[in-house]
Parts: sequence; C-alpha cells; structure tokens
Amino acid sequence: MIGVACDHGGFNLKNEIIKYLENNNIEYKDYGTYSTDAVDYPIYARKVAEDVSNNILEKGILVCGTGIGVSIVANKVKGIRAAHCHDVFSAKATREHNDANILAIGERVVGVGLALEIVETFLNTPFSNEERHKRRIEMIEG
Ligand code: RB5
Repeated sequence: MIGVACDHGGFNLKNEIIKYLENNNIEYKDYGTYSTDAVDYPIYARKVAEDVSNNILEKGILVCGTGIGVSIVANKVKGIRAAHCHDVFSAKATREHNDANILAIGERVVGVGLALEIVETFLNTPFSNEERHKRRIEMIEG
C-alpha cells in the first residue's frame, strides 16, 4: 500500500498521482488534504511518514509546493528516508542506493508529465541490496 499526502500547494499534483496509481491498479491510501484550502503541511506529511515507519505502508509519496517542507518533516520520523526528487535519475538512484521509502515532490517545480515519470521510477526501482549501500543505510539511524 502506498500512502499519498499533500498540502494545498500539492493538491493538484496529488490528484494526478492518484489517477496514475488507479490506472495502474496500485493500492493506495489518500491522507489528504482534500482541497486547495490552506493547511499546514507537517500534519499531512507526518501521518504518512509514521505509517511508513510502522510498516502500515510500504512507501509514501508527499507533495507540497516545493517538496521541501514535506521532506524535512518526513525525515524527522525514525526509519524514514525521504528523497526530494525532481528528476528521474535521482528517483532511480535513491531507490537503488538509499532504499528511500518516501518520495517528496513539488507541484510548483515540475510538470505533471515529469512528476509521473518520477513516481513510476520511484515505485518500480528495487533497492540494489549491495553491502556498501546496506552499511551506509544502517549508519543513518546511528
Ligand atoms: C505553501 O505555500 C508552501 O509553503 C508549501 O506547499 C511547501 O512548499 C513548503 O515547503
């Protein structure tokens, strides 16, 4: 199950991502927000991050205006490796090298076409499982 959340700045892109997930029969849970009324992004980002951390969700996708706020929030939750990606190369690399479990995107930064390619790459790229990457990920939690 993929958790998806946004603030008002990410609402339109979240809807496009949900359409993509539905078209591809990918199970998801929508954590809001559900309109473009202004809200506080930490509330939404934290809910998804906590559910990923507690293994209720396999991965999360967070959208705000820049993708920055939601990534900062998510990365404060134990076990979260949130990757702020606006290109396909980074989305692939962060799965292979960092085993990133949350993708953060900014609706005001990238177009829908690129955003959906980033989402697709993030969801379909497995972790490399290489020893050096496993060791480095273990070192993140300290
Ligand atoms: C909202 O205006 C904006 O600050 C928010 O969506 C996000 O970009 C914060 O990092």
